[in-house]
Amino acid sequence: MAKDVWDPTQYDRFRDERSQPFFDLLNLVRPQPGMQVVDLGCGTGELTYKLHRHLGARETLGIDSSPAMLAESRAHAAQGLRFEKNEILQFAAQRAGEAPWDLIFSNAALHWVPQHDHLLRSLTSLLAPGGQLAIQVPANHDHPSQTVAAQVATEAPFREALEGYARRSPVLARSLPTISFASPPTFFPSSGSAIGNSSFPA
Ligand SMILES: C[S@@+](CC[C@H](N)C(=O)[O-])C[C@H]1O[C@@H](n2cnc3c(N)ncnc32)[C@H](O)[C@@H]1O
Repeated sequence: MAKDVWDPTQYDRFRDERSQPFFDLLNLVRPQPGMQVVDLGCGTGELTYKLHRHLGARETLGIDSSPAMLAESRAHAAQGLRFEKNEILQFAAQRAGEAPWDLIFSNAALHWVPQHDHLLRSLTSLLAPGGQLAIQVPANHDHPSQTVAAQVATEAPFREALEGYARRSPVLARSLPTISFASPPTFFPSSGSAIGNSSFPA
């Protein structure tokens, strides 16, 4: 089993900074009555609870692959809100052809998932007619904080410790316009937020 690298206590240290993009993204969502919502990479579930309450959703499912983060989510379970351990790509594959989602939401998680071209198409195909895909990922892979870290990772002793591992950002901001949306996706390039409204995408 892969090592769980997520630590809810450490994650909580920068609570306000990390939750601001969540609220920015939530403000872009158009609430509809009785929504069926999924929050991909929901973490501790604290913000999923706010998403669920803010939308008055009929059902909200939070999924995350980290047992440590999900352990915290038990405290946030509420009527119509549940949490499940799952991997995002696996979720997208498993749910194909099942009841569609009115909102697929993800804050600060999809940049950990590879194959964005495939991923974004799969997620869009899970939307109900008029459903919304709202995602936020950091768009900072060319910032010095990231490029310097990547450079240092190629030097001793880090190169040996990482066994040559180099992380490439999978974020493809240009993938969304190639997927057919009922209304054009809105991008917020500085934060990496995007929202699209879809009906039966190709
Ligand atoms: C930066 S946290 C964001 C948590 C929450 N969305 C928030 O806004 O506070 C990223 C979360 O994504 C989860 N994650 C990363 N890769 C994942 C994957 N492939 N499948 C499911 N969850 C994943 C991590 O376990 C972690 O809880």
